[in-house]
Amino acid sequence: MSVADLPKIELHLHHEGAAPPAFIRQLAHEKKVDLSRIFDSNGGYAFENFVHFLEVYEAATSVLQTPEDFARLTRAILQESAEQGVVYTESFISPDFCGGGDVAAWREYLHAIQEAATRAEADFGITLRGIVTPVRHFGPEKAKQSALCAAETAGDWVVGLGMGGDEGQGHQGDFAYAFDMAREAGLRLTTHAGEFGGPESVWEAIRDLNVERIGHGVRAIEDPALIDELVARQITLEVCPGSNVVLGLYPDIAAHPLAKLRDAGVRVTVSTDDPPFFHTTMRREYEMIAAAYGWGEDDFRALNQTALEAAFCDDTTRARIQ
Ligand code: ADE
Ligand code: ZN
Repeated sequence: MSVADLPKIELHLHHEGAAPPAFIRQLAHEKKVDLSRIFDSNGGYAFENFVHFLEVYEAATSVLQTPEDFARLTRAILQESAEQGVVYTESFISPDFCGGGDVAAWREYLHAIQEAATRAEADFGITLRGIVTPVRHFGPEKAKQSALCAAETAGDWVVGLGMGGDEGQGHQGDFAYAFDMAREAGLRLTTHAGEFGGPESVWEAIRDLNVERIGHGVRAIEDPALIDELVARQITLEVCPGSNVVLGLYPDIAAHPLAKLRDAGVRVTVSTDDPPFFHTTMRREYEMIAAAYGWGEDDFRALNQTALEAAFCDDTTRARIQ
């Protein structure tokens, strides 16, 4: 069996970021929005660097307007993920793009997404859970609104709060209020850190937000004391190697610190982040990793066991997807 055929658990997938370019082009056509500037001559998303990527991402997201649009997107994403052998995924969903942070509107979007996910689970055999996502460069006030949406809908489907966006803006601690609100509502916590921010950003995430998982976190490799802290606290990293390479953090997978992090005892998992933006899939990630580090079936089974343990779902769901 090829390692790419193994059943997979994905913990770090942005809902809008998983939208195929053809899907976004079709919506733009239906809504008569000109988005030609965000596509290259092959029809893929075109961006120059991380900040430009975020701009293109938000332009693409601008045509995802109604709960029905998100329902269609949910089905498309889950069908594709199931074809990749993914059996369980957690996706980042932002109230900023689903009703502008208004709780009543958010409930409508969430309802549509959940219904589509339930149908996709029956049809494709993949389980989805949602992580509500404040967007860092929208600022702490918007993050509070997102956290309120999360707290109001916390349960067995909305399972976490996880901040994305431009790590260059402000500090993790600026968002402590939002994370505290989510924690009090029983939600599990993760934040993007140590992607474009250095090790200090990961220290802040641990110290100021007290998260149990970190989105990316790969730049922790630059600070041995931080590696010790991640190991001691058993914090899980949601590593997205293909994303890191395309966004220019590392020249190639061979230079990526995934294997070094794992060998140092850090709990690592593998995800795609925004697969069509980075020309990747879960199969492709596994194939690239196997080729670069010589990992075999046992290594990938262990990786998925770590992901299963770090998943934010309840234990009944965990037992079912095992
Ligand atoms: N939003 C979508 N993808 C992201 C990434 N890789 N980093 C931060 N925010 C994001
Ligand atoms: Zn991400």
